Amino acid sequence: MNEELKIGVIGTGMIGQDHIRRITEVLSGARVTAVTDADRTRAEEVGARRGATVFADSASLISSDDVDAVMICSWGPAHIDAVLPALAAGKPVFVEKPLATSQGDCVKIIEAEVAAGKRLIQIGYMRRYDAAYAALKATIDSGAIGAPLMYHSAHRNASVPPDLYTDDMAIADTMVHDIDVARFLLDEEVSQIRVIAGRKNSVGGALRDPILGVMEMSGGAIVTVEVSVNIGYGYDIRGEVSGETGTAELAESNHVVVKSGDGFAGRVPADWRERFIEAYDTEVQDFIDNARKGVVGGPSAWDGYAIQVVSDAGIEAARSGRAVPCAMIEKPTLYN
Ligand SMILES: NC(=O)c1ccc[n+]([C@@H]2O[C@H](COP(=O)([O-])OP(=O)(O)OC[C@H]3O[C@@H](n4cnc5c(N)ncnc54)[C@H](O)[C@@H]3O)[C@@H](O)[C@H]2O)c1
Repeated sequence: MNEELKIGVIGTGMIGQDHIRRITEVLSGARVTAVTDADRTRAEEVGARRGATVFADSASLISSDDVDAVMICSWGPAHIDAVLPALAAGKPVFVEKPLATSQGDCVKIIEAEVAAGKRLIQIGYMRRYDAAYAALKATIDSGAIGAPLMYHSAHRNASVPPDLYTDDMAIADTMVHDIDVARFLLDEEVSQIRVIAGRKNSVGGALRDPILGVMEMSGGAIVTVEVSVNIGYGYDIRGEVSGETGTAELAESNHVVVKSGDGFAGRVPADWRERFIEAYDTEVQDFIDNARKGVVGGPSAWDGYAIQVVSDAGIEAARSGRAVPCAMIEKPTLYN
């Protein structure tokens, strides 16, 4: 395709507007031609500002000739209602995480994509596009630290909204990114998960925070994930792989270290937007470049399904205190 990719965006809230900004101002090869949102006023405001046509609903946006590819940034429970029609229309779909909010819905989407006979879905698990995670993955794959045995992940937020954030969200909204990264780095599925909560951070009131997820991978590697969402000092993402002959870890994300007085310091990102801004740019550019060639890559519907299975098991494990197995359907060959 020589012309720009025409993208229709469903959901013009926070991340929808941010993706529209990057497509319009930062990236190349695409423009946003269409928008829709359950909040019509919001869609009209964004459409007017960005020169995009406002559609009454996702069905009319998806079927429009002025839309080559669909970007879904609505709330998670609404994703499936846009993903399935987009697949039926044969249009490439970028869907923000989660793919859907139940394993059954994820399987329906997988079945529809398998029936289409080719990958059409990329999910917004952007950490795979982060330069530091990519370097960590390349280090493991190079054999420099021998076979990976353990992966330790930490996901620390400065704060979360006390009235909105729940114990389940610590897994379904937050830990899912670490689950994705563990599968990505180790090339294995999660076979079981435990979730442990100890002494609470008093800042979070009744919230079980922090929690520790302990996952056993299908090849026997162990993964630990600390989720700590009221840590105050900033958004701190850590990851270290322990291998047979060495270790590899994410470096600090600051670009400069300042030494003065009797100490040294570097900036901690305020939030995920700052920490992963380049990863978001890279993932959406990848989607654009692929879609213009008629292909789709990146995190797949299978990844979305597998993460949903582990997330559900994690929530059950947190409630029961027991290890919960992660039973999955057979992986269709489309995703090999
Ligand atoms: N990858 C990431 O790091 C990341 C970061 C933030 C959000 N997200 C995901 O992006 C999605 C949106 O999150 P957000 O923070 O932008 O939320 P938001 O509430 O700011 O925006 C969501 C928008 O979707 C609209 N909407 C809801 N249901 C709709 C429907 N059926 N049809 C059309 N519009 C509908 C809402 O009116 C709202 O404007 C969520 O799935 C979230 O998990 C991913």
